[in-house]
Amino acid sequence: MSRSGILKSSLAKKYWMAATGLFLCVFLVGHLLGNLQLFIAGPEGKLAFNEYAKFMTSNPAVNILSWVTYLSIVFHIVDAIVLSVNNKKARPQNYAYNKPSANSYWNSRNMGILGSVILIFIIVHMSNFWAKMHFDEMPMQLLDSGESIKDLHKVVMDFFNPAINSLALAAVALYVIGQIGIFLHLHHGFQSAFQTVGVNHPRYNKIIRGLGLAFSVLVPLAFASIPVYLYIIQMA
Ligand code: HEM
Repeated sequence: MSRSGILKSSLAKKYWMAATGLFLCVFLVGHLLGNLQLFIAGPEGKLAFNEYAKFMTSNPAVNILSWVTYLSIVFHIVDAIVLSVNNKKARPQNYAYNKPSANSYWNSRNMGILGSVILIFIIVHMSNFWAKMHFDEMPMQLLDSGESIKDLHKVVMDFFNPAINSLALAAVALYVIGQIGIFLHLHHGFQSAFQTVGVNHPRYNKIIRGLGLAFSVLVPLAFASIPVYLYIIQMA
């Protein structure tokens, strides 16, 4: 392949990384808003969460979006691996004068490690709830209308309940560590994605950096607060 072809294809890969990364940020916001219903106490909270889960698994448009999410995760990972292998090949040796720690953040140089922590989190997380919801026998909630719907609320509550799950504390720790990984990954990834798609102007860079910082702190913090809260309220 010609040199310009390689450049073009690695540029295209960077675009795909940015596009899939930004799409996954949108997914995270939607997923967070749905999961925040776990803070609603009592029967209303249980009903709201279970009806939301039913809608998310039965609505055809949402099903398509779910597949776009799974494909985006796979694409993002494959692209990251190919890009870093290509970069290593193009720059086989570190220059003696090159001192990366002096001019870049640790997280920007270790996106692969952070991505791997997040991947482990996602695999464990999907086996905790998603696999159960889709392939396992589920507890059911009987509605006033006589209809029975899957009780995902009970599955999530029990998972973080130390009286029911002896590994609940370890689960909370894993979810919090996963969110720290997401914070560090997003902190660099968010602004890097905007640069890749060409939003790179002195007037906007400060705003994008501020937005990126706010997003990368607030979203993982809100996610992490869910298992911590569910554990604490059920501890007594
Ligand atoms: C920490 C709080 C979180 C809770 C309580 C939570 C809860 C859930 C539940 C109950 C499901 C199953 C829903 C279903 O199958 O309809 C699910 C699915 C999923 N979660 Fe989470 N989640 C959390 C954080 C995250 C994070 C941080 C990520 C990504 C980094 C993530 C990625 C996913 C994915 C990709 C699915 C499958 C979505 C789909 O099928 O459309 N979750 N989550």
